[in-house]
Amino acid sequence: MSSNQEQGSLHSQASEGKRRQHGSQTAQRGVDQADDAKQQQHQELEHDGQVVQPEPIADDADSALGDEISVYTASVRESIYDFPERYGRTYHAYKEGRYSLPNDEVEMDRLDVHHHVILLAMQKQLFFAPLPADFSGRALDLATGTGIWPIDFACQFPNATVIGNDLSPTMPLIVPPNCHFYVDDIEADWTYSENEKFDFIHARFLAGAIADWPKLMAQSFEHLKPGGWVEFQDWNTWIYSQDGSLPPESALNRFHALTCGGRHAQGFNMRPGPHLEKWIQDAGFVDVEVTKVLLPLGSWPKAQQQKELGVFNLVQMMKGAEAVCLAVLPMLPPEAGGPWELEEIQVFLADIRKDMSNRKIHGVYDFWIVWARKPEA
Ligand SMILES: C[S@@+](CC[C@H](N)C(=O)[O-])C[C@H]1O[C@@H](n2cnc3c(N)ncnc32)[C@H](O)[C@@H]1O
Repeated sequence: MSSNQEQGSLHSQASEGKRRQHGSQTAQRGVDQADDAKQQQHQELEHDGQVVQPEPIADDADSALGDEISVYTASVRESIYDFPERYGRTYHAYKEGRYSLPNDEVEMDRLDVHHHVILLAMQKQLFFAPLPADFSGRALDLATGTGIWPIDFACQFPNATVIGNDLSPTMPLIVPPNCHFYVDDIEADWTYSENEKFDFIHARFLAGAIADWPKLMAQSFEHLKPGGWVEFQDWNTWIYSQDGSLPPESALNRFHALTCGGRHAQGFNMRPGPHLEKWIQDAGFVDVEVTKVLLPLGSWPKAQQQKELGVFNLVQMMKGAEAVCLAVLPMLPPEAGGPWELEEIQVFLADIRKDMSNRKIHGVYDFWIVWARKPEA
């Protein structure tokens, strides 16, 4: 038994048998809204030469998207399945309140769509770190969500040992034999022993989830073997347009300003992507490599690959907008225009979704992929 199990991390089991096997590949806190606005302006001016060209549409064309979108042990504590319910959504029970988004079927579907979006953006690669083709070491996926990434990784490297952890036991029951899941809090002190060090640590899509990024980087460094690789992939969860087509007063823009600002005020950075490189360097990693990819929102891009990416991104954002609003708006203090009532949120969501599917608004997000190596000595 690993020290992790001994010290309270729990094997996972799919919630009430609802989770299914994945279609896998083989199978600063405190950033205020003024800063956000400045950064948006900056982003519109500078985007490293990467541009997403919109497909021309007739002026009278319908701006709506329309039909384009057409384990393992029995010894799991009951309490981690006793998911609290709010607004008709369920949330994690272990360390309740630690994370703000739901863990229900709608959210799990969204995470799987998001996985597909990122695979499209990364040319079907799960990671960019230069692992050997016959990698057979120990890999850890932090805050794994549905477990789709470690399952794909375990299929690609059948001789590797792959571990995924999360606050929620939301992984499927049927997984490759070299893939293991634990319920754990990655912000707590890790309990892996000296002989459980990893060769690769991966984390993706933790915007808004982490209170102490430098600590997370430091623990990743400590629990890697010398020469091991780390890879963080994350959003700058801030939409912008490269051609001025996103009106500042639009519901879509307000959605990002309110929710990013509100979550920052709660102590969680919604825009970690641009900071990953520095955090990783500060933790002591070397050979740091950085790639930024653009994720358009919607079917408006001209190029087929970007259009497909944009459509899947739209699907996950349409599903995610409600959860993000519910995580922040009812708790906004009066000085920030809150708290919002549920009815107000529903009206706002209708406007947000209308903007999201408006092909005349060419919204884009930046997604960062940063990988680095722990020095040999
Ligand atoms: C947006 S999801 C991303 C899931 C997965 N990494 C992916 O890319 O599909 C964020 C995940 O982080 C988990 N999470 C948030 N805070 C956590 C913590 N302190 N410890 C472990 N998991 C955490 C949530 O339960 C959720 O599954």
